[in-house]
Amino acid sequence: MVAVSENGVIGSDGGLPWDLPDDQQFFKRLTLGGCIVMGRGTHESVGRLLPRRTTLIVSRNPEYRVAGAEVLPGFDDARAWAERQGLPEIFAVGGAGVYAAALPVAHRLYLTRVHAQVEGETRMPGPNDPAEAGFSLVAERHHAPDARHSHGFTFQTWERAAP
Ligand SMILES: NC(=O)c1ccc[n+]([C@@H]2O[C@H](COP(=O)([O-])OP(=O)(O)OC[C@H]3O[C@@H](n4cnc5c(N)ncnc54)[C@H](OP(=O)(O)O)[C@@H]3O)[C@@H](O)[C@H]2O)c1
Repeated sequence: MVAVSENGVIGSDGGLPWDLPDDQQFFKRLTLGGCIVMGRGTHESVGRLLPRRTTLIVSRNPEYRVAGAEVLPGFDDARAWAERQGLPEIFAVGGAGVYAAALPVAHRLYLTRVHAQVEGETRMPGPNDPAEAGFSLVAERHHAPDARHSHGFTFQTWERAAP
């Protein structure tokens, strides 16, 4: 799951470059009760564990510990951990290192396209057009800018049969 600007930015100054509450609600609705995998940087930028989710944090630092979360040395280790627990699906929720590891094996992509050009140091890896990675667009819903959302955005769901 990722929200990305028109110019490929996902993060700025270690945080999100926008405040889009309905995108956050969408994220929450989809991941509640599920298993999320994030990089150490994203965990530290959120600053707390998201409640009612199993949280896997990837870090190459073997000393790194977070109470209430599993810390694993790589994305494949996170996948294997979830499989051992019998968890049917995991959500890769950033940042760039996790997306780079998840994209080649992902079956579904929840992509929020933020209709803005923004500045930021963290960019989404991979092609801008998921079709180039074999995904097909299966759902799309537009959200107009309003008093709570400075940018318009479009929720897209992309799927592919076998990565
Ligand atoms: N727009 C969005 O949807 C979205 C979603 C999530 C995050 N973000 C933004 O993205 C930025 C953070 O992302 P980031 O790319 O800088 O950091 P990140 O990927 O969250 O964290 C980087 C750290 O995580 C560990 N890591 C990442 N990939 C790994 C892998 N494949 N295997 C093992 N360890 C791995 C490493 O930790 P160690 O150094 O400890 O080894 C690495 O230094 C923030 O600005 C955040 O707000 C945006």
